[in-house]
Amino acid sequence: MIHNRILVLGTFILATLLSSQEVIVFSRTSIELGQPNTLICFINNIFPPVINITWLQNGQTVTTGVMETNFYPQRDNSFQKLSYLTFIPSTEDAYGCKVEHWGFEKSLLKHWESLMPIPLPETTETLTCALDLTVGLLGIIVGTILIARTSIPRHPDPHTLALFIS
Ligand SMILES: *[C@@H]1O[C@H](CO)[C@@H](O)[C@H](O)[C@H]1NC(C)=O
Repeated sequence: MIHNRILVLGTFILATLLSSQEVIVFSRTSIELGQPNTLICFINNIFPPVINITWLQNGQTVTTGVMETNFYPQRDNSFQKLSYLTFIPSTEDAYGCKVEHWGFEKSLLKHWESLMPIPLPETTETLTCALDLTVGLLGIIVGTILIARTSIPRHPDPHTLALFIS
């Protein structure tokens, strides 16, 4: 749980620092299909503090499970605001956070979709598989060298060599 929060916070801070974007949409915790989660729409650089935030699910306005924070004043006298939407991640649904602000030329729409999370077991499996393969290959190479050193007689007679190779 804590590592999840740190991950989300880290992503959020990075996104804020690296992105000049005014609107960022991200999920509170990492996405697990069917597990209730919260989408967060972060709006930066708002001035004057008048804004309309609308959540869309597959293009339709969503009103239930929506919560907005107050305007957070920033040092440069602009404001930030967050809007939350509780939802259940599904590969079927696409979400959008629509922001209307006088400072924007037109309303901004940020899309968000549950990307299929990378299933951990499979990743582990792949890793284990890769490790197995590496160990296996190493084993074959080292084994071949050892066998070549010890088993093949210096002056092998053709019969022994034929046996060894077959
Ligand atoms: C917010 O929505 C209302 C009603 O649709 C509209 O009158 C107003 O101009 C909008 N505000 C902004 C900042 O776009």
